[in-house]
Amino acid sequence: MKKCISDRIFSLIADTAYESGTEAYVIGGYVRDCLLGRDHDQKDIDIVVKGSGIDLARKVARRISPGIKVTVYRNFGTAMFRTGNHIIEFVGARKESYSSDSRKPIVEDGDLEDDQNRRDFTINALAISLNRNNYGELIDPFNGISDLDQCLIRTPLEPGRTFSDDPLRMLRAIRFASQLDFSIQPETFESIRKNAGRISIVSYERITVELNKILMSSRPSLGFRLLYDSGLLEKIMPEFYKLKGVDKKDNQGHKDNFDHTLQVVDNVSAMSDSLWLRWAALLHDIAKPVTKKYIEGTGWTFHGHEFIGSKMVPGIFKRLKLPMGDSMRYVKKLVALHLRPIILSQESVTDSALRRLLFDAGDDIDDLMLLCEADITSKNERKVKHHLRNFGIVRKKLQEIEQKDHIRNFQPPIDGNEIIKMFNLKPGRQVGSLKSSIKEAILDGIIPNEYKAAREFLIKKAAEIGIKPVEK
Ligand code: CTP
Repeated sequence: MKKCISDRIFSLIADTAYESGTEAYVIGGYVRDCLLGRDHDQKDIDIVVKGSGIDLARKVARRISPGIKVTVYRNFGTAMFRTGNHIIEFVGARKESYSSDSRKPIVEDGDLEDDQNRRDFTINALAISLNRNNYGELIDPFNGISDLDQCLIRTPLEPGRTFSDDPLRMLRAIRFASQLDFSIQPETFESIRKNAGRISIVSYERITVELNKILMSSRPSLGFRLLYDSGLLEKIMPEFYKLKGVDKKDNQGHKDNFDHTLQVVDNVSAMSDSLWLRWAALLHDIAKPVTKKYIEGTGWTFHGHEFIGSKMVPGIFKRLKLPMGDSMRYVKKLVALHLRPIILSQESVTDSALRRLLFDAGDDIDDLMLLCEADITSKNERKVKHHLRNFGIVRKKLQEIEQKDHIRNFQPPIDGNEIIKMFNLKPGRQVGSLKSSIKEAILDGIIPNEYKAAREFLIKKAAEIGIKPVEK
């Protein structure tokens, strides 16, 4: 265990605890990740102290440097400070219990054993002693080491009790399973299924932290399937839950949109670490259940699901307390545009359609293409190959057009102010329509994306409605 506490900070904490006549232990995620060999350079370190965590934090901080700022949360009996790459949090060992309708714990002082009892999972209850008599010894009352070996998530106490102390832990179990590629012990999982309804007392801020962590795991589908099977998904993301299932009519079914979406999320995750691209993948078909129709002779259709889906994005972000700014607009845009490259790859593509796609996607064109490629899922390998080949053609053509015309993020070379001056017009609809005629002409390839051509085109267009430029 010594390798986990080789950093100088641990001996400093140990010496300070000894001199203060108290006991200190490293506990939680730091120990778990060290034993798993997960990179923990930046890892937060949790120290549990017999007695006051706040006092020990202050003393240790003073020893490192008198200038260190110690943040104290008196209500929780915790204090933390940053040193080097670590944030170190000190907490007094506690016994905690919660009343059934609130997250507010009743806290009493306790010892290490009490503190380990109140932890969420056996693998998170592992502690390493920083005390002189057994420095570096692993204290593992629930056989967390064996659960680490067997890749198992299990609660230290009877699961119903651990989950009722804090129902967010049900989501954390799934998040750890997804992040670490562990399974959840059957009794623990059964308890999650039984208690899923209790997630309603947890704030969306906390829920979303876990959802984001599930999405950032290498194969997010693992976590989302567990969310579905446990009954939690229905409670926290009912729109997404509704994607599951296949309707049949005249012996014709459609894809299971839940399975398909998870495949797309995994595909995207294999290619990109972007959280928001993963959200876009998760939500790209979110409106399929509400747009689903069976049309005689045609089969199942989901007309307009991309537009309706993009309109659903702000509501979902708001409820999940996700940021409502650029990230939301990005996801909304990708959901709205996710069919465009696919459609282009099926038809003979015109330059004008490609220019419009470049214009609409702007800087997000590469992410959109990535999402669309990930969206090509089918059991029929020949079909997938065929689509991917066509898709390659679209990508190449997009590059050629961008090199030639610089459409990404382009602003028409003549702006409204210049049009006003040129023709001595008042600001208004006429100016707007002349300006947009330039944009349309460039996107349609009638004129190149250049000032001179745009000016000549504008003069011609204005003449058609009887407007002439004023003499200089
Ligand atoms: N913990 C808990 N119940 C919770 C949250 C946290 O018992 N609802 C305990 C666990 O022992 C956990 C420790 O507090 O290991 C620290 O929690 P946190 O920082 O949220 O998680 P980590 O385990 O450190 O994992 P990560 O940093 O990956 O989130």
